[in-house]
Amino acid sequence: MASVLTLFSFYLMLFSTSCFTTINGVFSEQSPMDITTKRMEKLTHLHFYFHDTLDGTNPTAIRIAGPSKRSFGTTMMADDPLTEGPEASSKLVGRAQGIYALASQHDIGLLVVMNFDFLKGMYNGSALSILGHNPILDRVREMPIVGGSGVFRYARGYALAKTVQFNQKTGNAVVEYNVSVLHF
Ligand SMILES: *[C@@H]1O[C@H](CO)[C@@H](O)[C@H](O)[C@H]1NC(C)=O
Ligand SMILES: *[C@@H]1O[C@H](CO)[C@@H](O)[C@H](O)[C@H]1NC(C)=O
Repeated sequence: MASVLTLFSFYLMLFSTSCFTTINGVFSEQSPMDITTKRMEKLTHLHFYFHDTLDGTNPTAIRIAGPSKRSFGTTMMADDPLTEGPEASSKLVGRAQGIYALASQHDIGLLVVMNFDFLKGMYNGSALSILGHNPILDRVREMPIVGGSGVFRYARGYALAKTVQFNQKTGNAVVEYNVSVLHF
């Protein structure tokens, strides 16, 4: 009788351990292999032009807070077209949607919090997020890319911006962008 009980508890033990190892095995086997074998980090360069229009009946950026005379605290919401070439009529590749604000009391420096939502080809539906300082009077400004979605998951990198057209009176600007981004 004692030996039957021992045998029974032995089977019970064996059954429960094998149950656990199976679950553990399936649970822990998969993901590390997938990441190392299938997901290679890539470096992508993007080049486009950003059109910020403040005047007219269809401005692409409007003031949402702060002084109306552009000075420290003025905060704008933008939905600016991104195009292949510098002309406004050039092919649309995406939109820059977000906020920029005059955040410096000492010079003309913007805080930029924006998403670049892309529309072209394999990038359609994917986005990059920018969070940076933009001293707009400098010839070339650098802003960090802090993340992304779609093909740009896990993105990190930087954007270089250079104003190629600026209208003193209206404030309208065309800015050339070179973006370098690492992503999976
Ligand atoms: C981008 O994707 C949207 C939604 O899937 C689609 O309606 C649109 O036609 C696409 N645009 C381009 C240029 O592929
Ligand atoms: C972007 O890259 C092109 C080609 O290297 C260069 O001619 C242009 O000046 C660059 N612009 C910016 C804003 O970095």
